[in-house]
This record gives sequence, structure tokens and C-alpha cells, in this order.
Amino acid sequence: MGSSEAVLQVFSRTVPHHFFTDSSFGKLKSDSTHSSKNYIKCIDKKVSKCMQLGSGPFGNMTICRPSLQSCKCHPSERVSGITAEDVNGTWFVDNANKLNTINGVVNGPNVLEFQDVQQSKQEKDGLTSNGANGTVVRDEFRKISVDSIEDEAWNLLRDSVVYYCGSPIGTIAATDPTSSNVLNYDQVFIRDFIPAGIAFLLKGEYDIVRNFILHTLQLQSWEKTMDCHSPGQGLMPASFKVRTVPLDGDGSATEEVLDPDFGEAAIGRVAPVDSGLWWIILLRAYGKCSGDLSVQERVDVQTGIKMILKLCLADGFDMFPTLLVTDGSCMIDRRMGIHGHPLEIQALFYSALLCAREMLAPEDGSADLIRALNNRLLALSFHIREYYWIDMKKLNEIYRYKTEEYSYDAVNKFNIYPDQISPWLVEWMPSKGGYLIGNLQPAHMDFRFFSLGNLWSIVSSLATMNQSHAILDLIEAKWDDLVADMPFKICYPALEGMEWQIITGSDPKNTPWSYHNAGSWPTLLWQLTVACIKMNRPEIAAKAVDVAEKHISRDKWPEYYDTKRARFIGKQAHLYQTWSIAGYLVAKLLLADPSKARMLITEEDSELVNAFSCMVSANPRRKRGRKTSTQTYIV
Ligand code: GLC
Repeated sequence: MGSSEAVLQVFSRTVPHHFFTDSSFGKLKSDSTHSSKNYIKCIDKKVSKCMQLGSGPFGNMTICRPSLQSCKCHPSERVSGITAEDVNGTWFVDNANKLNTINGVVNGPNVLEFQDVQQSKQEKDGLTSNGANGTVVRDEFRKISVDSIEDEAWNLLRDSVVYYCGSPIGTIAATDPTSSNVLNYDQVFIRDFIPAGIAFLLKGEYDIVRNFILHTLQLQSWEKTMDCHSPGQGLMPASFKVRTVPLDGDGSATEEVLDPDFGEAAIGRVAPVDSGLWWIILLRAYGKCSGDLSVQERVDVQTGIKMILKLCLADGFDMFPTLLVTDGSCMIDRRMGIHGHPLEIQALFYSALLCAREMLAPEDGSADLIRALNNRLLALSFHIREYYWIDMKKLNEIYRYKTEEYSYDAVNKFNIYPDQISPWLVEWMPSKGGYLIGNLQPAHMDFRFFSLGNLWSIVSSLATMNQSHAILDLIEAKWDDLVADMPFKICYPALEGMEWQIITGSDPKNTPWSYHNAGSWPTLLWQLTVACIKMNRPEIAAKAVDVAEKHISRDKWPEYYDTKRARFIGKQAHLYQTWSIAGYLVAKLLLADPSKARMLITEEDSELVNAFSCMVSANPRRKRGRKTSTQTYIV
């Protein structure tokens, strides 16, 4: 049985037939480049489960999902043992042809070649840098070295691909042959796969992304518990692993199972709020790039989208439209004082809401959901644009705030004490430019600059056009702090001293200017590039790529860099980190063809703009009495 047939069987045996109103899995067969002829059987192990999610503002939902995804294989056909001969597809052929292994260390030749080229380049520079010929030669060498970096990156990316039942379904977080402490870096992380998936989409290799989307969807309703507590339905795992386990009752045979981690094994037991949001964003990108809308139209995929939305839009105690989350629920997945309403989650939330709205099939049952979604989009954009934004002018306003205002008209709504404006910020804020702060709570503004949140606010149009330009102005003005020797600082500045002790819990991995505490993460290059392309300022991203290219390959594609100027490879950084590699590739590919960035960008729609301007003119900051506004904002 071919692997695609195998997957077909896994899905069709676990989900009732009426869920497959289209023939997309039939199509999978013909699309797939794989025919792992050695797989004897790949069937699902357990019967499907149907859960009634009940009625409510979002209508009735019945979910039928398997309780365990598995694929049974005979021992000699284990995926891990596959060679180039096992599969006809381009993946393994490419891998086998391009990758060389030196003492088990993948990628020797390209690194060496690049070092040679760099060395010759330096020699040439020394000899001829003054003449016109020198410039030509230098350019030529630079081109060769850049090409070889890209080739190397592609080889490494392909080498990180993880297979399930013979089909590619994701990429491993890091393939660091020097690391003795793998932790969970041998898993497929949802967030880490996004740039890898985008790189494959840009290359026209769609299968891996489609498989990833559909298999992670199957994991969505996994029975997940932590100490007898089950998190909400709709949660997507942080990561998953393909495990080869002995087949029940058959000593010689094995089966493959997908084993997800929803945070119940993760360090700190953090729930990955960003996973489902990224999943929606990737799903839209897949449809836009491949032109294959059949995946997003599938009933089970539509249900998956609704489950994520239902979880995010559920009522709570909150007064704010922003999502309330615990510390460590996103890329920064350990204690860094970002609990509450961190910008990164809000930007991804906004982006996912817009993407979902575009993909949800219009049907009677989802009218309430769409209405809730539209109202949330509006309230969220108003809240972030108004209350998270700071620039020199706003800072001065805060500096002069009155406090303890009890009234509907309060200007200082969150009762921010001006003394919170730290000396570093007064120095740091450029006269041209501004940014969205990291978090907002009663009596607390987290003034740290968080890069991903700001960049994705540009990409998703959560920030206004002016704000988006101002963020890029700030990045240019603060280049030495945010880029320096390696793009891009995850946040600025670092928590130090007592603040570090209290906020991180004295985390030795998050020491000042390291890791999440203002370390520099090359993967952020791709989000920077999309943001710059959206604002028609690609030269900023191109400059950052140039900086990265100088040594990222020689440094073996680290996960992150340390020190204020990103001068050291991070103390505990994994090497050959897949999303560092993929982030670089996506940046290169998009700069070569900026129109492709459209699959990730969401433009603000005019209805939202209109409703937004109504809200702005009714804002209490502009002195409105409590009852004067009778408008409802249903877009
Ligand atoms: C670290 C990062 C997280 C990433 C994971 C795998 O835990 O903090 O963002 O997803 O490594 O690379």
C-alpha cells in the first residue's frame, strides 16, 4: 500500500465518512511523490470518538476524532530506516544526493566549501579591494558564497524532515549532532514548523504542509490531562513526536504513533496558546500559495478552525478584548513576566481571526461565530492601537498622567503611575518612531519592546499604517540594539539584577542578554522580512539578511545568540536549529519575490476601518459622557 493510501486509510477509518465531502484525500494520492511500497499496512489502532460540544453561541458541534493516531509497519520498513531506494519521491533523492555525512555529522562539505569560499574571498579582498576588478571579483565571490549558504540551508532543512507512514509531516526542531542534551528538540514543534512550512510552500512543495495541517488537526482533540485536569477542546499541541513502538500482540512488528505534547510534559507545563493561531495562519497560507482550497473547505478542517475560535472567544472574567494567558504560552515558553495580555499572542490572535474569517464557509450555523469574531476584531484592534502604542508624544502624556481617576471618562484608564517610565526608556525612545508595548495590566505597562508581537502587528494590520511605519522607523533607529551582529533581538532590554531574580525565578538559561531575556534569534528574520515587504521597505530586511549571512552558516545555524550586540553563539543554544535555517530561507525567497508575502499578510478591510473610526471618535479620551454612544459595532 502506498503511503498516501495509508494516510487515507488512517483518516477514513477513524472519521465517519460524511466528514469527507470532498475528495481531497483521494487527491492526496495522486499528488504525493511518495510510494513507500514496503509499507504493508498502515491502519488506525482505535475506533474514533465522537464528542458533542453542545450548543451555545457557536451552534452545535460534533467532533469525531481518533483517540490515537498510529500507523502499523513491519520492522524492516521502519521510517527511520528508509534509504533513498525506499521512496521514489524527490525528498529522499534530494537528501541522498546533496547531503554528505562525515562521522555522522551532516553537512560537512557545504560548511567547508563556504569556509573555503570565505577564505578565498578574504584573500581576494585583501589583494584587490581597491580596483574595479576587485569589486567585480568580490561580488562574484559573494554571490557564490551566498548561493552555497542557501544550498546548505536547503539541504539541512530537508534533512530535518520527519516522516510518518512514509509521508513527510513536519520538521524536527534541531538536528544538532554535537548536543548531548536533546530535551524535546527531537520533536516537531508547531510554531517552529511555520517558517519551514512557508519555505516549502515557496518552493512549490505542498505535500508536507498539507500533511502537517491534517495530522496536527487529528491531534487537536487528543485526550490531554495534567493531574486529572483536561485543558479546553481546541487546544493544539506545542509539539509532537513520531514514535516507533512494538505492535500489540506481535513481537516482531512495530507501529508508528504520533505522540503530542500539550504542555503536560513541557518544561514548566506551559500551554501553547500560539499553536492553534499559527495553525490557522499556515492553513490560509497553504490555500493561497498552492491554490488548493479543498483542505480548508473540508468539514473536519472547518470544525478544527471553529474549535480554536471557540476556545479563544469563550467568555471569561476579562474586561479586555485581549486574550488572557499565562506566562510562557508562546515562543517565549518560560517565565519571563509576560503573563496577562502579551502582545505576541494578541497579534497572532488578531491575525488568526482575520485568516479564519476568510476561510470559514458561510452557513447558518456559523453566523453567531462570525458576528462574535467581527466584534472581537474591532475591539481588539481599538484596544491595542489605543492603549499599547507608545512614542515620544504618548510617553510625555503618560509622564503627565493624573492617577486615581474614578470615572467613565478617565484618561489614565489603567491607573498607570508615571514613575513606571524607566530611565532606559526615556533614553531609548527615538524622536522618530514608536512601538507597541509588551503587555498592559491594571497599573502596569510592560514597556519592553517585543519583536515578534510588533512585527506580526504590522503583518496582520493590527497596527495602523502610521504605527507600522513608525515601528520600522524605530527598528532603523535602534539597529545597533535590535540587530547589531545578528538579527533579531527577541525583546529589549534584558531583565537584570533583582528584576531578573523575581521575574524569571532566577532562571539560569534566561540570564540578561541571553535566550528569551533579550537574546537574538535568527528565526525572526522571516517575520521581519514579511513586515518590511508589507510596508514596502524591503531594504531594511535585506540589510538584516546581509548581517546574518556573514556568519550564520559558519556558526552552524544557532538557535540564538547572546550578549547585547549578539556577539556570542548562545550559551545553551542548539546548533542546526531548523527554524533558524528556515527563517533565513523564507527571508531570502520572499526578498527575491516579494509578491509571495501576500499569503501571510492580512490587509485591513474597509468595514473594519469605518467601524474603528466610529469607535475612535467615541473614545472617552476625547471626553465622552457615559451614555452618549448608542452605536453597536457589528461589522
Ligand atoms: C524553545 C523555544 C521555543 C521553541 C522550542 C523549539 O523552547 O523557547 O520557542 O519552539 O525551543 O525550538
